[in-house]
Amino acid sequence: MSDLDEHVALRLAAFRRHRPYVESPAAEAAIRTYLTPHHTTGSVRVHRRAGRVSAVAAWRFVPDSWFGAPSWNVAIDHDVDVPADEVEAWLLDTLGPVLPTLDAELDVLVPASYPPVLAALRRLGLGIDSVQLVGEVDRALALLDDAPLPSGLRIAPMREDDLPQVFAMLERTFVEEPEHGWFCALPKFIASQREELETAARDPEALQLVVREGETVVGHVGASIDVANPFWGPATSLGLCFAPPIRGRGVLRPFYRAFLEGLRARGVRVFRGGTSRPAVMHLGRVMDRTLQGVNLRRGAPFPPSHFAATLEAHDVSLAHAALRPVA
Ligand SMILES: CC(C)(COP(=O)(O)OP(=O)(O)OC[C@H]1O[C@@H](n2cnc3c(N)ncnc32)[C@H](O)[C@@H]1OP(=O)(O)O)[C@@H](O)C(=O)NCCC(=O)NCCS
Repeated sequence: MSDLDEHVALRLAAFRRHRPYVESPAAEAAIRTYLTPHHTTGSVRVHRRAGRVSAVAAWRFVPDSWFGAPSWNVAIDHDVDVPADEVEAWLLDTLGPVLPTLDAELDVLVPASYPPVLAALRRLGLGIDSVQLVGEVDRALALLDDAPLPSGLRIAPMREDDLPQVFAMLERTFVEEPEHGWFCALPKFIASQREELETAARDPEALQLVVREGETVVGHVGASIDVANPFWGPATSLGLCFAPPIRGRGVLRPFYRAFLEGLRARGVRVFRGGTSRPAVMHLGRVMDRTLQGVNLRRGAPFPPSHFAATLEAHDVSLAHAALRPVA
């Protein structure tokens, strides 16, 4: 087996430990497609035990990432049977001199089953930017009791003539609160978001909901459905936003329910997204969303304790690693 083959096997094992994952040959192929450029044009460091790859760190420069900023995509995996201290020490040695040379944004999602990776990257100065949550639609609907909408508000499908209000709300939000989505106000991200919503507004099958107060749009949620995701089956990512006046009033619970019902009607099994919003993390725990992993970044705006309840709900050792003081 090549280093790439062993890396693919380690990453596949991480998916297999994650409850919502659905076994399929497409998963291995998708991981191989993702990791091949790291191994052919990027940089790879490998830790071996008894002749087998027990940990691997690979990075490559991506000039035109989907989120709109040049970035270094870093893919780290390890055999979870190797002692955590050994993996952590190897990563500190290996990445310590490298990370300062990666002179652009970092794009690194550490799978939830890799506490030593989280610990090492924290010790090397990265912080937790957001947690990546995966929800299962049927499970979430069974666990999330409904709640009434505050009077004067209603939930409705988004119309094409809502678009200017939706764009204005989304774009203003992330200029004002970049800590909850650092790339969401970048021009490339905004342009692709506009294009996606314009297309969705013309598609009768799309799932785009708004909250209205009279004729004013004060909330939006949109699905980006992938009917054959290689890891989750029919799945979606989502964008969610409320205008400040309706926040903190319990609108999210009934809005999620309407959205989840729309997903179920379309045969979508899984919904996933990154977040640092306490309300989203709270309802994520109510809906028993799983923690796929942790997005790390330089200069992350929140201390790890901001994410403690979500981390602890999934794996105490992960929380331990995440919260350990940085040396
Ligand atoms: C994310 C967002 C939609 C949350 O909306 P919100 O109005 O604050 O949410 P709600 O008031 O309906 O609260 C939802 C739940 O979270 C709970 N909650 C709110 N703040 C909380 C906090 N700081 N800690 C724990 N739970 C909290 C609420 O009690 C409620 O739980 P309940 O239904 O069990 O009572 C809103 O902050 C927003 O639009 N932000 C800007 C856009 C954004 O950041 N989008 C990215 C989202 S991933």
